[in-house]
Amino acid sequence: MFFKDKTIWITGASSGIGKALAIALSQQGAKLILSSRNQGKLEEVRDECLSYLSTEVYVQVLDLEQYHLIPKIVESILQRFLKIDILINNGGISQRDVAKNTSLAVDKRIMDINFMGTIALSKSLLPSMLKFQLGHIVVISSLVGKFGTPLRSTYSASKHALHGFFDSLRAEMDQEDKDIYISLICPGYINTRITYNALLGNGAPQDSLDEAQANGMSPEVFAKKTLWAIRKKKKEVYIGKREIFGVYIKRFFPNLFSKLISKVKVT
Ligand SMILES: NC(=O)c1ccc[n+]([C@@H]2O[C@H](COP(=O)([O-])OP(=O)(O)OC[C@H]3O[C@@H](n4cnc5c(N)ncnc54)[C@H](OP(=O)(O)O)[C@@H]3O)[C@@H](O)[C@H]2O)c1
Repeated sequence: MFFKDKTIWITGASSGIGKALAIALSQQGAKLILSSRNQGKLEEVRDECLSYLSTEVYVQVLDLEQYHLIPKIVESILQRFLKIDILINNGGISQRDVAKNTSLAVDKRIMDINFMGTIALSKSLLPSMLKFQLGHIVVISSLVGKFGTPLRSTYSASKHALHGFFDSLRAEMDQEDKDIYISLICPGYINTRITYNALLGNGAPQDSLDEAQANGMSPEVFAKKTLWAIRKKKKEVYIGKREIFGVYIKRFFPNLFSKLISKVKVT
């Protein structure tokens, strides 16, 4: 019961991975703050969490794209909860189009939600974590945060940017000998609604399920493995099926990786 009575804030908690993490944590008695844009869906997740062991589950509507509003939201959360033990930056949006057909407005939207929103929330919470000399920032990145694939140019860039930012922040915390932990979790294909919500080049959602996600890992299994990684304070983990080998092929055989990825039909 490592997570019992820890206060854990999860973004993107209305669906998929975030919802599965909320339920898994409520089964261990964590106190939860659930965020996304959709209050109704968050309340449904809250009610399910309260049917397990969580004694407190609070819904905080938050739009990562409106990142300038995040400092005020953090202020009000800290008035209510005093401190946050673990922040799980999970909310995000994907892409399903080639770079040449993706408008700059869509590029900006993906960067704002996945990168700016995530760092705005993490940076707003950091002073309080430093004050209490404890805190764990978890970032749900992606395997495409480690390598690029067709149809994901900006999505991949937004996840690569998270690695650059949070690796640097971890080094700063280590240099200052602070007990602030940072875990980058890189999912492969997980069977959620991500592909329905993924943006086409014109900004419309794809609105269909990709075969790779349909055959992917369940969010419940993913959540269990992620909680293990958080407990162990892992710096970076890859969670998925065979697709995780892509990370090692890219790392050790970069030319082979380029040849393979240009032939693979990515959906
Ligand atoms: N599923 C996969 O195969 C896969 C693979 C690699 C990485 N990931 C990453 O895993 C994370 C969760 O995705 P998922 O697979 O669970 O997809 P999902 O079912 O589509 O869930 C995405 C979550 O993000 C929230 N969200 C989207 N835009 C937001 C915004 N502007 N502000 C606040 N919240 C927002 C959504 O809530 P609202 O719509 O209510 O705002 C939803 O709760 C993402 O960061 C994604 O990049 C997923």
